[in-house]
Amino acid sequence: MPIRPMEWAGDHLRLLDQRRLPLEEVWLELRTWEDVRDAIRDMAVRGAPAIGVAAAYGLALAARSLHDTLPGHARVERERSSLEPARAGLAASRPTAVNLFWALDRVMALPDMGPEAVLSEARAIEREDLEMNLAIGEHGASLVPAGARVLTICNTGSLATAGHGTALGIVRTAYAQGKVAHVTSCETRPRQQGLRLTAWELMREGIPFSSIADSAAASLMRSGRVDLVVVGADRIAANGDTANKIGTYALAVAARYHGVPFVVAAPSSTLDPSLATGDGIPIEERDANELTETEGVRVAPIGCPVFNPGFDVTPGELITAIVTEQGVHRPPFSFGPG
Ligand code: MRU
Repeated sequence: MPIRPMEWAGDHLRLLDQRRLPLEEVWLELRTWEDVRDAIRDMAVRGAPAIGVAAAYGLALAARSLHDTLPGHARVERERSSLEPARAGLAASRPTAVNLFWALDRVMALPDMGPEAVLSEARAIEREDLEMNLAIGEHGASLVPAGARVLTICNTGSLATAGHGTALGIVRTAYAQGKVAHVTSCETRPRQQGLRLTAWELMREGIPFSSIADSAAASLMRSGRVDLVVVGADRIAANGDTANKIGTYALAVAARYHGVPFVVAAPSSTLDPSLATGDGIPIEERDANELTETEGVRVAPIGCPVFNPGFDVTPGELITAIVTEQGVHRPPFSFGPG
């Protein structure tokens, strides 16, 4: 069975709690937009495209609770303003992945804001994300050489999207084409999305891989055991500067030094042409306890100062190619509006 991170269940959103994986498969029942906001904020659902899809369903839940009987234009405008607190609340859940804001804006621009229309837009966003990922997989697989040993970071698979995945979607498609010999999956400190989630997905599919500590990546490249690095993205500026999980930039620097191609994979909903460069991308700072504790047990000295950015920005000049559903983009990158 293909993995799906969430499913609409008629009157609520069922969401696979990614904090409990890989040891337990627990499904949450989200019945209000506040439930969805909390699930995004607390990372029960994570990954840029998956956050966007969840947020759209959050607005669908909000719209269900607002039945307005005014006729015509007045009704639509009242529904739009009634949905504003939910939009603002969902938008405040996480700052870096632009897919969240893209999905909220798309829903709020509907000509009809009634519950059926909002739900059907949320479903369309989910369906289109899966289609975009399948296209990314096809385009990206053309960059994967035969017998490739691919290195990746974080989780960019089915769990992080509506299905198939972005960077991991390329791995899936290329593996099905017989091109991938081995995947190296970075642990992804501090939340361990690579060790917990990517490893879980790769094991389910029988794709040969090994997990490494993030700090082992450069020496693996030096010993010639990486042919290609493929990563996802949370926001891509017009010039190709790419925000992704913290540690991605270090991989790009090491890849350039060792002559290893470095590929970014993302749907066009991750592009932010309103930002000329990555300097304007807001970088989420997460709780200190992600570092100071392991499984709830304190490991750092009490009072230890911590800086815990969730993302970093890789300059476009270090990126060999950016793969979207539209094809393979090569530098110099220039992503315009539309
Ligand atoms: O903090 P997370 O787990 O939401 O971060 C996820 C990532 O950085 C992914 O690599 C990115 O969203 C691309 S997902 C297809």
